Amino acid sequence: MTTTPPAIDEAIITAKAYGDQSFPFAEWGWLRANDPIHWTDVDELENFWAITRHRHITEISARPDVFSSEVGNIVLFSEDQDFDREDNPFNSMRVIIQMDPPDHREFRKVASGFFTPRGIERLDEIVNDTARMVIDQLSSFGSEPVDFVAEAAQRHPLRVLCTILGVPPEDEDRLLELTSQLFAFDDPELGPPGDDRQAAADLLGLQFYEMFNAIIEDRRANPQDDLATLLANATLESGEPMGLVETLGYYLIVFNAGHDTTRHSLSGAMGAFLENPDEFARLKADPSLLKTAVDEIVRWSAPVNYMKRTAIEDYQLDDVLIKKGDRVCMFYGAANRDEEVFEDPDRFDVGREHNRHLGFGWAEHYCLGAHLAKASITALLEQMIERIDSIEPAGEPTHTASSFVHGYKTLPVKVNWA
Ligand code: HEM
Repeated sequence: MTTTPPAIDEAIITAKAYGDQSFPFAEWGWLRANDPIHWTDVDELENFWAITRHRHITEISARPDVFSSEVGNIVLFSEDQDFDREDNPFNSMRVIIQMDPPDHREFRKVASGFFTPRGIERLDEIVNDTARMVIDQLSSFGSEPVDFVAEAAQRHPLRVLCTILGVPPEDEDRLLELTSQLFAFDDPELGPPGDDRQAAADLLGLQFYEMFNAIIEDRRANPQDDLATLLANATLESGEPMGLVETLGYYLIVFNAGHDTTRHSLSGAMGAFLENPDEFARLKADPSLLKTAVDEIVRWSAPVNYMKRTAIEDYQLDDVLIKKGDRVCMFYGAANRDEEVFEDPDRFDVGREHNRHLGFGWAEHYCLGAHLAKASITALLEQMIERIDSIEPAGEPTHTASSFVHGYKTLPVKVNWA
């Protein structure tokens, strides 16, 4: 192995590096070629193995019996605090993304029917109407510079998710604020205010609880045809009702896993088109490419940057022995540029066929909302290619200071309407 370039560890995992430079494509390329299972050691975080090759990520993801999402959680913590750290805002609820089989399968089944392609057909109207409304609002700026993240990308998933979860329109902005704080917990600008992180985490947990508990009580009294009602009244295979902690966890995970990810994929689409205007023109000329374009956008933008697993027994991964208790972080954005799997991986190609990207993860925890996310991206793209002639950058974009769920913080654009 050649000597590791200096500061590679900081570049691939610290929030500051992502805020400053976004995805570390150069470092990932070096790692894939020279040290694809790389021991990472930065001062402020737990140590871990960084996994950057596609085939290693699929191998790990297919072994939830060895690589646990439950033991040690799915995000990295500060070096001096472990999974059970009190100020982990995810810990106040029990969510499927942090469960292992057999519990994981039992709880995932509760909502999996809702999220099948058939199941989400009932959402076509809201997904399409929302896309139209978002582009209507964007068009009110004419060709003035506008921040695509604030004015378009974040509005679409907010409206769709709030509708299926029964969040009243007047609470939408509040929920958006809370979820941004949760995901950017350590971002000084976007995270919750205050120096006392414990108090901030407690308050955040309480605010989520109050909001979702009111909906659960309402849907138990007044059932409707939505996910909120399904979750509020869910029973497990045993016939027992789903517990409150798990029910609250479901609301939390559907909203939180669905919102920032979809937002980053939509702004990622715009970013990709700004860098590759010919691909926008190509899609406009041939809308039959929408299906492949959507997958290419998720491959390209990889909004979930990594997921962590903890080995619960020793495991030989290629030439590296992963020891029981070791943590592995699977970098989906790195795997999505793996030259072993993708031809010309650094090219954004709306017509890319056989796109085996890992943007939605793989195997046991494969994204539950993948079909809804694809429908949302499709609906917005349809509006964009129909109504927009061309787009231009209108300033420097900024990036979220987060290495977990990552994307544009702001993306100034100038839109030329058709
Ligand atoms: C482009 C948008 C999205 C991306 C890139 C994305 C990505 C991912 C990834 C990588 C995972 C795997 C986690 C793991 O292996 O531990 C995942 C899981 C999950 N996603 Fe998504 N997601 C997106 C949209 C959504 C939406 C819209 C929803 C819900 C409405 C959603 C709900 C979930 C849930 C509930 C899980 C956990 C599944 C499980 O543990 O079995 N996601 N997502």
